Amino acid sequence: MSNPQELTQEALAAIARAQTEAEVAAIEVDYLRRKNGRLSSLLSEIGKLPPEERAALGQAANEAKRAIEAALAAKRQELEEARLADIAETEAIDITFPGPPLGRGHLHVLTQVQRQIETVLESMGYQVELGPEVETEWYNFEALNIPPGHPARENWDSFYFTPDLLLRAHTSPVQIRAMQRIKEPPIYIITPGRCYRRDAPEATRLPYFSQVEGLAVDKALTVGDMKGTLLYMIQSLYGEERKVRVRPSYFPFTEPSFEFDVTCGICAGAGCKSCRHKGWLEVGGCGMVHPQVLRNGGIDPTKWNGYAWGFGIERMAMLKHDVEDIRLFYESDLRFLEQF
Ligand code: PHE
Repeated sequence: MSNPQELTQEALAAIARAQTEAEVAAIEVDYLRRKNGRLSSLLSEIGKLPPEERAALGQAANEAKRAIEAALAAKRQELEEARLADIAETEAIDITFPGPPLGRGHLHVLTQVQRQIETVLESMGYQVELGPEVETEWYNFEALNIPPGHPARENWDSFYFTPDLLLRAHTSPVQIRAMQRIKEPPIYIITPGRCYRRDAPEATRLPYFSQVEGLAVDKALTVGDMKGTLLYMIQSLYGEERKVRVRPSYFPFTEPSFEFDVTCGICAGAGCKSCRHKGWLEVGGCGMVHPQVLRNGGIDPTKWNGYAWGFGIERMAMLKHDVEDIRLFYESDLRFLEQF
């Protein structure tokens, strides 16, 4: 029979050799298990000893137990540290390493269409001019020949902050602002931006939308100049097979005034469900700038004349991509947006 000191030496040697947590656990069981562990087996012999030696053996056994437990704990800590050091090495973060590629988004389809319009018109010498979305009643109405009480105000009903301050109902007020700023024609500007109207949301209209307005002021401009410019713009954006037409209409700030239509891209003008069997889709209004509007902008209508148009950017995007419901542009549904 070995004594506790020998047993301890043996156990410590085994622990020192152990390489894994599993081996450590096996040693623990082997030596310290209550039932049939080596230490308990040793103690089970205690009864055979003369009584005066029993206490000494008991004490030695306790010391052996503490020594083995301490060695096991130290070994375990050593193995854990080695494991962590290993992870630190193999899974170290190299901050100079390029990260995983980010999913990149892209410009919203309305921004894309707006920029395409700008690009085409800039190539014809137009400059982009921006105006405020919070506008005064004078710029939004009066300066455009729509005095208080004029029935046409109904068409541009908007959201008011005060009787004099509102969210602009169209981009036309920027016509006046551009004339005031530039002062001396020729003036060739386009002005894209957000507009607001008191309309309930539906498939073809929203209370917020974007327009792009164009204004040309020069000498002896004609409806033909205007129509040619707009035809060039439409065909540049949608392809040369598109046709355009102007229909007589009424706006207080143009004379004569027209609605501007483009042939439907789905049926090429033959008539289908999406153009309500008309073959044509309306994109906005246009006309020759009313002399009073020129005067309100500080320009002499006996020397200069001009044309202007205001098209809905959503309408133009719907026309380009055959989108049937204007609300889709603002719902932020990736299934829709990722198509463009
Ligand atoms: N401002 C008009 C609208 O919002 C469109 C328009 C602009 C018409 C310029 C003629 C000239 O409906």
